[in-house]
Amino acid sequence: MPNSTVLVGLPGSGKTTVGRQLARRLGVLFVDSDQMIEQRIGTSIRHFFEMYGEDAFRDVEQIVIEELPALVEPAVISTGGGAILRSKNRLSLRKSGRVFYLKSSPEDLFHRLKHDTSRPLLQGGDPLAKLREMYEVRDPLYRETAHFTLETGRPSVAKLVNMIIMQLELSGDGV
Ligand code: S3P
Repeated sequence: MPNSTVLVGLPGSGKTTVGRQLARRLGVLFVDSDQMIEQRIGTSIRHFFEMYGEDAFRDVEQIVIEELPALVEPAVISTGGGAILRSKNRLSLRKSGRVFYLKSSPEDLFHRLKHDTSRPLLQGGDPLAKLREMYEVRDPLYRETAHFTLETGRPSVAKLVNMIIMQLELSGDGV
């Protein structure tokens, strides 16, 4: 059975940064589901959203996420913030291994993402209101999907990585 470590959470919660360092520490492959999507669509996610809209993006996202439980070797997998929206995806993520929810408040995320232009769902309008809305809808879904929840408000990336490694050891995942 694949025994990957999967990171879920809202945009800006540190999935990619933490994931890269965690993979290095564990000596396993790092996989970013958004990068896999971009390879498949041959363009940026932002551009794809503009051209085809969110539903089309979610369809590609589902195809990529369905493949994760079948990775040939265990990896650290960081996912896009909306990867938990479809119930099929939630199942695929749990099948892939241990799922960690990097939980941050919408306010913290807003400060981290103020100058970011790569995230289509946060462009224009009122990004803080959008993050609050996303949090309301998604927080229960992240919690439903995850085996563990880590508050990412204060801890540094290195601390988060250590916390994840500790949890994996405690849960007997042979790190
Ligand atoms: C999305 C988050 C993005 C990316 C896409 C949709 C979302 O990933 O998958 O723009 O719905 O929250 P990040 O969480 O890495 O920003």
